Amino acid sequence: MPVERILARSRSDADDSGSPLKRTLRARDMVGFGVGIIIGTGIFTLAGVEAKEHAGPAVTLSFLIGAVVAGLAAVCYAELASSVPTAGSAYTYAFTTLGEVFAWIIGWDLLLEFGLGLAVVSRSWSGYLAELFGLPTAWFGEDATVNIGAVAIIAILTVVAVAGIRESSRLTNLLVLVKLAVCLLIVAVGVFYVNPDNLTPFVPPAQPPEGGGSVFTQPVVSGVFGLEPTVYGVGGMLTAAAIVFFAYTGFEALANLGEEVRRPDRDLKIGLLGALGVCALLYIAVSLVLTGMVPFTELDTGAPLAVAFADVGLPWIGMLISIGAVTGLTSVMMVELVTIGRIGFAMGRDGLLPRAIGTAHPRWGTPHRMTIIGGVVCALIAAFTPITALADMVSIGALSAMIIVAVAVPVLRRTRPDLKRPFTVPFSPVIPAITALACLYMMLNLNLDTWIRFVGWLAIGMLVYVFYGRKHSFLARESA
Ligand code: ALA
Repeated sequence: MPVERILARSRSDADDSGSPLKRTLRARDMVGFGVGIIIGTGIFTLAGVEAKEHAGPAVTLSFLIGAVVAGLAAVCYAELASSVPTAGSAYTYAFTTLGEVFAWIIGWDLLLEFGLGLAVVSRSWSGYLAELFGLPTAWFGEDATVNIGAVAIIAILTVVAVAGIRESSRLTNLLVLVKLAVCLLIVAVGVFYVNPDNLTPFVPPAQPPEGGGSVFTQPVVSGVFGLEPTVYGVGGMLTAAAIVFFAYTGFEALANLGEEVRRPDRDLKIGLLGALGVCALLYIAVSLVLTGMVPFTELDTGAPLAVAFADVGLPWIGMLISIGAVTGLTSVMMVELVTIGRIGFAMGRDGLLPRAIGTAHPRWGTPHRMTIIGGVVCALIAAFTPITALADMVSIGALSAMIIVAVAVPVLRRTRPDLKRPFTVPFSPVIPAITALACLYMMLNLNLDTWIRFVGWLAIGMLVYVFYGRKHSFLARESA
């Protein structure tokens, strides 16, 4: 029943815009678009931070593990995107399959993922800007009490997003090329500065964390199995895998393009998996070179790649990397801000958030209210919170949303066997089940602190739902 309503609404939305979506995108375009939105802080900053703090050179394996889990989730996304092709992505899939309350949870979850994602990327942007112009790290680096650079870039992009200035596709393509070129440059030049000693042992022996570590900072999984808290070793590599999963987030935005690809049966699949594949190869190569160039304990946490090249006597390469990071990260932030606006807009339109949020600006045609709220909140968070504390929240948010997406695949097949499915997950329900379990296992490798904050966020969400959304939603009104 809700499926019909949502499909019907998506059709009328498209009609309202006066321009039904055109099937113009080829698989190649999808891969380019995906690479543009996926590559960002994950490789430019987190690779260095996680090598230093949790995994050592084994951070390369962490990226490999992340790629496998993201690939599984992408396959599930692809089936839903081809059978329920509407804006709103996972939020809409949950609505159609599992009902309003799950839709609310996932929407709330996605706001966390993209909101904190924006905060993380803005701080990483600020770190590279400081490296590029020699700005004081007390205001622009990870040690800043108030990160002015992060606040400034979010403020500027919020104005741009509200005014509805869309990046032209030419600019997006250019940014993708800049990012690809920078990653290839890092690998091509860096490989000559790799010192094999830095890579041995590849998985550094597990050590007790500084100060002994508390139950809050150890991965939930070791708590569950009663293991001693450690850093490095296999446990550290898995924790880093869960955190650098951040680097793959954002590919979900491709699932929004289900209606615009030329051949949904193959282009979506090739686009999603191709973009993830390209990113995975680059991430693995870049992190291997990075940890080969600098002993992992000496990596910089603000702009690790640029500083690594400066340290081996190639400051001009470091400068090119900083330029690439500052420009490339801008496109990632733009997509995140636009996505926050859209999710809030969809939830407001459904009455789960105040309807004022679900209306577009009369002149600019953008979800301005949600964009401004998102910008202000994210800027405040980015001003004061370190990247490491934020990145694991993004990962836990993304992974939990992926569990719901994986579960939705077999559920929708049972409840709506008649829907046209241009692309299907092979071996369902086995692959969706493996996907959900892999995501859950990754989540268990995050620490208790992250879980508590995540559960807190969901609890606040449930309160908002019980006291507001449930009573005001369009479903509630219709049944009344
Ligand atoms: N995947 C994006 C990044 O790494 C969010 O910045």
